[in-house]
Order: sequence, then C-alpha cells, then structure tokens
Amino acid sequence: MGFIEDISAAAEIIRNTHAVTLISHIDADGITSEAIAAQAVARLGIPVTPVFVRQLEPLTMRHVPDDDTLKVFTDLGAGQQNLMEEAGMKADDVLILDHHINQPAPNGTIYPQVNAQFYGPEYAKCSAAGVAYMLARKLDPDNADLAELAVVGNVGDMMARETCGLTGIARWIAEDGAQTGRVRIAKGINCYGLSTRPLHLCLANSDDPILPGLSGDPKAAADLLMRLGIYQKSSDQRVWESLEAEEAKILASVIAEQMIANGESTERLFAELYFFPHETELSPLRNASEYATMLNACGRWAKPKIGEAVCFGDRGTQYREAEHMLRHHRTIIRELCEHILSTGVADAGHLQWIHTRDTYPDTIVGIGAGMALSKLDPSKPIMVLCYVSDEPDLVKISMRTYEKVLRRGVDLQAALVAAAAEFDGAGGGHNIAAGAYIPKGCEDDFIRRVNELIAGQFATGAPHR
Ligand code: C5P
Ligand code: C5P
Ligand code: C5P
Repeated sequence: MGFIEDISAAAEIIRNTHAVTLISHIDADGITSEAIAAQAVARLGIPVTPVFVRQLEPLTMRHVPDDDTLKVFTDLGAGQQNLMEEAGMKADDVLILDHHINQPAPNGTIYPQVNAQFYGPEYAKCSAAGVAYMLARKLDPDNADLAELAVVGNVGDMMARETCGLTGIARWIAEDGAQTGRVRIAKGINCYGLSTRPLHLCLANSDDPILPGLSGDPKAAADLLMRLGIYQKSSDQRVWESLEAEEAKILASVIAEQMIANGESTERLFAELYFFPHETELSPLRNASEYATMLNACGRWAKPKIGEAVCFGDRGTQYREAEHMLRHHRTIIRELCEHILSTGVADAGHLQWIHTRDTYPDTIVGIGAGMALSKLDPSKPIMVLCYVSDEPDLVKISMRTYEKVLRRGVDLQAALVAAAAEFDGAGGGHNIAAGAYIPKGCEDDFIRRVNELIAGQFATGAPHR
C-alpha cells in the first residue's frame, strides 16, 4: 500500500480507540515522535500513557502493559515484531510508526505499520517524528503547530546530514512549519551550535567540514572574527545567529576562499538550517540540531520525560533540568570522544573497534563513536562495545559509518542483525548506524564475524538495498 493509504488507515485506528499506550525510544527522534503522537491523540480527547524504553528487547517489553489500550510504537517496533508476537499482541492491538528496517513477525502477524522505509526515495530520509507528524496532520490540520518537533526529530536522527538539509517529505514538513511562522528556514554555515556557542568556538569545533586554519584553533578563529570586525575583542561571545546578513555572508566567503586555496571542496560548507524564532534567543531550543541534542541529553541519561515536557512547552522547572542534563551530556560525550581517540581503536581489517567496558553508559557510546569517527579512518566503520549497567550478562554494540562507505556496499544493520542472531543476540537500526546486544564473553568471535560480513559486503560492492 502507499503512504496515503497507510496514514489514513493509521488515523482510523487512532480515531476508533478508547485509550493509547505510546511506547517510544529515548533519543531525540523517539521523544519528538512520542510528543507529536501524544499531543495529537490527547487533542482528540483520548487518554495517552507514555512508556520510554532504551530499546525494545525481551527485558524492556515488560514495561509494555498487558491491558486493552492500543499500543502505538514510535521510532521502534519495526525490527521487534517478533517480541510483540511472543507477548501475544494481536494485529488489532498495535500500530507501528517507524523508520527502522522492517523485520516481519515470524508467525505471520501483520501489524499495522507506517514505516518511512516503505514508500520510496521521497520518504527514505524521514524519521519517525516525520511519520508521527504526518499522522497528526491527517488527524487534524491544526496539528501543524507540531511541525517544529518533527523537524527536530529529523535533524536529530541525522536526516539532513548527508544532503546538508532536509529532503523529500521531511523538507515538506519544515515548509509546513514555515507556513505557520514557527519554523524559519535559512541558509548558513554547516556548523553545530549556531544559536548558543560563541562563534569562534563554533568554528573551531567544526570537523565536518574541516575549516582550514580554524578547526581545532579557537584563537585563530577569534582573530579572524576580529579582522572581519565581527568581534570587537577576542573575548567576544557573539553567536552566528546574531550576525547581520552581510556579516554572515562575508564570513562564509572568507572561509570558502580559504577552503578553495587549500584545494578543498566547499560543498559541505553551506547547509539549510532550521530555526524556531518564538524560542528565547541564545537558548538551545532556537535551532533544530541543538534542540535535538538537548532531548538526547535527557533521554539517553534516563530522563526522557523531561525531554517530553520540553516538547510539550515547559520552559520552567523541567526546562531548567533539561539544561542541566545538556551540560552534563556535553561534558561526558567530549570525554568519551577523547577516551576513544587517546586509547585508540583496534583495526580488524574492515572495521575499527574499541571496548569501553563499564566506563560509559551503553546509551551514549554510539554518539561518541559517530563523533570520534571523523578523526579516525573514515573509510572503515567503527564499532564500540560496552557493558550494560543493569544487565550484567549483556554486551552492547554500537556501529557507525559514512554514506560514502555505504556506497561501497556496506550495510551495518544487515551485518549486525546477521551476526547477532548467530550469537543469540539481537541487532537492528540503519545501514549507516546500527546496534545490537550480545551475550558477554563472545566479543572477540563477534568482532571477527562482523568483520568477515563487512569484508563480504565490501567485496560484493553494490549496496544491498
Ligand atoms: O534508533 P535510531 O534511529 O534512534 O538511531 C539514532 C542514531 O542513528 C543516531 O545516533 C543517529 O546519528 C544515527 N543515524 C544516522 N543516520 C541515519 C539514521 C540514524 O547517523 N540515517
Ligand atoms: O545519536 P546521534 O549520533 O545522533 O547523536 C549525535 C548528537 O550529538 C546529535 O544530537 C547532535 O545534535 C549532537 N552533536 C553535538 N556536537 C556536534 C555534533 C553533533 O553535540 N559537534
Ligand atoms: O544505540 P545506538 O545509538 O548505537 O543505535 C544505533 C541504531 O541501532 C539505532 O537506530 C537503534 O535503534 C538501533 N538498535 C537496534 N537494536 C539494538 C541496538 C540498537 O535496532 N539492539
């Protein structure tokens, strides 16, 4: 079936239900997709109970209540239909809103599902928050005020990364938000922290793209800003978002000239950016990528409901707690990244790996892996292994790679699903970012097996899907 049919069918399921349990993931896309669906359902007068899980696996399935509410799974579920079937859930009890690779239930139960992976290229770069938004809008066009949350979910799940902006249906959603004035779509430099980081630190922190002479050198960045008259003194704290259009243009062209002089492409220097003008200036809620980090900080540190409250509009006590979570998250991610780089990764041939044991929580190692990869060998996927604090028999695996490696045939989701199954574990995710849980003790064999599978993918060449 097509997207319109599936979304209409999902809307009918919601309209005909008396109560909903929303089960969602703890990252930015999970929290925004939950917040969108929860508000859309509540606005129909239907009671909603949220359940956040770090991943759907046999242990966390226990948090899904065995009652007569409709179970709506957002940002997870597509890859865990076996668990729903094992738990005795009927097709009528479930609705899946997801963008992860579909793994059908083994005994043939067909759960109703709207999955961005089903509908071709226009939908391929749309996260679960985008799917939840399309459903919300189908239920009531007035739900267009939720578009900004869908933009945050999409940007948080890196849907804009490769193309330096959202595309397809995710771009349409951003425009939908622009129509109501709640989203401002702008062109600017492709750096992180444009609303909150002093500009010299924002430039110095950029690693994709590398800015010649500026990346890694805050003093050089401050000197450049003084030369251009953007800073009056080196201790200025202006952020990119506060620049006049002319200042932003001059800065971008000077950086572009330096890149060209260094023989580098300026292709990744510019991006489409998504700002929320109604939020307070200098707050991380002013743009989609910083907003997403704040939600990740809440969710991945076991406070997804604080993130949900921020999405619902809390700018008081819960927001202040979210700010605290964000500061903590940033510090630990920075440490983790430094730990990976200073310890060094082992080279298995076709992937590079590191075991962080119990030093960092399993919910954040994937983020650190993604950020460290830009400073390692970008042509080989990275795998981080770590222990899981409340499950002593398990090892968590997180893998990340780049789009150009996918074009050589690599598919992390396929490799981890296949290898984890051989070790009585379970994996899932995306071709570019995937994870798994495996039993403790078999790490070496597991790394060897994934390395072998990835070697095979490189040898075959063409993308698997
Ligand atoms: O479960 P899940 O989709 O939430 O995983 C999110 C993680 O996957 C994030 O770390 C995000 O950076 C990464 N991801 C990615 N590219 C995609 C999809 C997800 O890097 N296309
Ligand atoms: O889970 P995922 O890999 O997407 O997490 C990466 C997170 O780190 C994103 O939420 C992104 O906004 C944030 N980030 C950051 N600093 C950067 C780049 C990304 O905090 N330089
Ligand atoms: O945890 P991490 O951020 O590394 O997860 C990367 C991707 O793999 C996410 O999309 C996550 O939902 C997925 N994943 C999964 N099954 C697991 C672990 C992670 O589907 N056991």
